[in-house]
Amino acid sequence: MLTDEQRKQLIETSLAVRRWAYAPYSKYEVGAALLTSSGVIYDGVNIENAAYPMVMCAERVAVFKAVSEGETNFTAIAVATSNGGTPCGACRQVLSEFGLETKVLIVNGDGEIEQETTVAELLPGAFGPQDLPDQNE
Ligand code: THU
Repeated sequence: MLTDEQRKQLIETSLAVRRWAYAPYSKYEVGAALLTSSGVIYDGVNIENAAYPMVMCAERVAVFKAVSEGETNFTAIAVATSNGGTPCGACRQVLSEFGLETKVLIVNGDGEIEQETTVAELLPGAFGPQDLPDQNE
């Protein structure tokens, strides 16, 4: 359940934190705002590196900040970019670990929601614990 107020806060936070994106190479600034079931919002930005493959996406920064603070139940994540870009495959997979029903709000540079979807819709057939033989014995 996501209230209008929470939706608004997620949009505003994801947009506001884009200023902290460290993206000197791509110049593509991404902001994420992740709402946990306890009501806390964890933000994240993309962090690039001169060794290009070392980049970390905004969504995963937000997830890792939350998990490292003991939070693993997520209600929704907003992702803001200039053009309404959607989460990459790696971020979809990481989000799926913590719930396929997490809502995903795709926000553009004007603060408009371009798409409101779920992790399940973004990653059909997600690899999960059910795919690990040892977990099913
Ligand atoms: N990026 C994200 O932060 N999240 C995504 O889901 C897609 C891509 C970043 C990584 C890189 O810094 C820049 O966007 C261009 O790929």
